[in-house]
Amino acid sequence: MYDIPFLDLPALNGASGTVRLPGSKSISNRVLLLAGLSEGTTAVHDLLASDDTRVMLAALGALGCTLRHEGPVLHLTGIAGRLAVHEADLFLGNAGTAMRPLAAALAVLAATQGGNFKLQGVPRMHERPIGDLVDALRPLGCTIEDLGTPGYPPLRLRGSAGSRLATQQPIRVRGDVSSQFLTALLMALPLVADEHDVVIEVLGELISKPYIDITLNLLARFGVAVRREGWQRFTIAQGSRYRTPGVIHVEGDASSASYFIALGAIAAQGSAPLRIEGVGSDSIQGDIRFVEAAQAMGAQVRAGPGWLEVHRGRWPLAGITLDCNHIPDAAMTLAVMALFADSPTLLTGIASWRVKETDRIAAMATELRKVGAAVVEGSDFIEVAPPKQWQPAVVRTYDDHRMAMCLSLAAFNPLAGAIPGQPIRILDPRCVGKTFPEYFETLLSVATAAPQDLPVIAIDGPTASGKGTLAAAVAAALGWHLLDSGALYRATGLAAQWDGIAPDDEAAVARLASQLELRFGQGSESARTWLRGRDITDELRLESTGLLASRVSALPAVRAALHALQLAFRRAPGLVADGRDMGTVVFPDAPLKVFLTASPAQRALRRHKQLISKGIPANIADLRADLEARDARDRNRSVAPLKPADDALLLDNSDLSIEDSVAKVLGWWEQRRPFNALPLSGRQAPGTLSS
Ligand code: DC
Repeated sequence: MYDIPFLDLPALNGASGTVRLPGSKSISNRVLLLAGLSEGTTAVHDLLASDDTRVMLAALGALGCTLRHEGPVLHLTGIAGRLAVHEADLFLGNAGTAMRPLAAALAVLAATQGGNFKLQGVPRMHERPIGDLVDALRPLGCTIEDLGTPGYPPLRLRGSAGSRLATQQPIRVRGDVSSQFLTALLMALPLVADEHDVVIEVLGELISKPYIDITLNLLARFGVAVRREGWQRFTIAQGSRYRTPGVIHVEGDASSASYFIALGAIAAQGSAPLRIEGVGSDSIQGDIRFVEAAQAMGAQVRAGPGWLEVHRGRWPLAGITLDCNHIPDAAMTLAVMALFADSPTLLTGIASWRVKETDRIAAMATELRKVGAAVVEGSDFIEVAPPKQWQPAVVRTYDDHRMAMCLSLAAFNPLAGAIPGQPIRILDPRCVGKTFPEYFETLLSVATAAPQDLPVIAIDGPTASGKGTLAAAVAAALGWHLLDSGALYRATGLAAQWDGIAPDDEAAVARLASQLELRFGQGSESARTWLRGRDITDELRLESTGLLASRVSALPAVRAALHALQLAFRRAPGLVADGRDMGTVVFPDAPLKVFLTASPAQRALRRHKQLISKGIPANIADLRADLEARDARDRNRSVAPLKPADDALLLDNSDLSIEDSVAKVLGWWEQRRPFNALPLSGRQAPGTLSS
């Protein structure tokens, strides 16, 4: 996950490969609650790991369910419909799929078995309505207190043991604001259907019907059959009781699939489709019908059980007019596909967007305008006309995962003829953690870009100037890849040593360099390096390895052999390249080159500190003499001498902290970004650039 204030997506120009989707949020949270209410233990496979499921799991744990993780499988033992804990204060973040069903279930359990539960969330959760659900539950005899604005969380649910609920009459609930209210009642009322059938009647036109289908489907899996008459009347049979199915698999998220279906329609050219795994023709999720809408705009889609393959078909895409009531979440993705159409797209039936994670109609209109689209919005529709002129944009995401994922697709603007291609800055990219923590990594793993659109910051400088530390910190702050080119020479030196090859045998060492089996760790292992499967992290930093590197790096054939490998590090979203010739030879077009220096006295002092901290005795005067000798050698050598690129910016960090140096480089980089030229109102960049 990109846990940084913003992520700059470079202009992207194609997509191919395979993506694996995370589990469905809607299915995950329903399965968790049903398993939590059931008798027995449920083994849940492919559960979504995200903010919304984390709050549900924490709530179930607090309510006395037993949770046991065994590898990727969660074993959840439920409470068998009997409260094990009668008092709890539950924090549910911004998860509507946790707040609404838990409110209903705990309201009826507290009312009949006794209890006192407080439910709350983030401030936005307290702006999302729940009044229709409360209004349906109170007439039954549930005690529900509004702790804030009436009709919105936070709520307190109370009751004393032994009370009966008035469930003989049909229970009425409005269905035209959120279908989650009906889902909540459908999941809660089987808990109190001991004595007679329980009937739920929907008032008004039910929206988002496919989500009710998911609910009914999962209720059936947990042993509760609901009789449905149209979309107005639902009957839960007397004696209904939750029973675990034993094992359940969560299918991939169909709403998350929409971004990649759209991506295939926009960017999968040539013979290879974009393949999506985890959801397919056998999906129980309503958002799978996004496929039809995408096809109407031009996508070519093949589907099988658990997979989809998408190609670009009609191009540009066709603008469409569509009532999106049946695909409320995935419909947001159509608004972004509209950027790539040759006529406007009108999406109607989307009033529910206004009560989601944010007011999605307003947010979408504002952000699509930033990239150049003409947008008209109404209370329940949005109309998007493609940009005549694409703009670089700083996109706000409103703590709404779907805003971030949707707007990321605007980075493919070169395919819609943007010249030059425009980067897109996504503010607060970590908001995708709600449903798809690895979204950007997944997107970038299948996206391609023209090399000139992939930014490189080259950092060089004399030994012990701190360039490695600076480069790593700048890469982390921007979420970019890091190339420690010195490590390639060091690894080559080690490989030569292992194979008994003399470090000046140019041809043999070059052959080794061209076949280097080197692997850099990712994620939590990003500090580690393996050569031929052996962890060489520590060996790599030895002074003796540095000496070997210094010798092999003086061989032109070795430098040439490592050239292609270094170029391959230039990947989206960008690269910080650290080392001797990064700005002069390997990435001469790098838009920012930094030459880092520090006085010999400072560098000697730092190296001394480093060595002492490792328990290696050292003498400052000797170290300084060594450094100066090495500087002279490095400056005067004929192959890749140490010298700043003509267009490098000099940074003397003798008196700067690491944070100061990082801020300086990020500031220089920011000045080169097109976002800087945007009017202040469109920029809305975070105040500080350091991470
Ligand atoms: O930056 P470092 O100490 O890891 O570099 C090890 C040696 O490799 C050092 O002598 C400089 C050399 N080198 C090089 O010639 N070209 C590079 N791009 C990186 C390092």
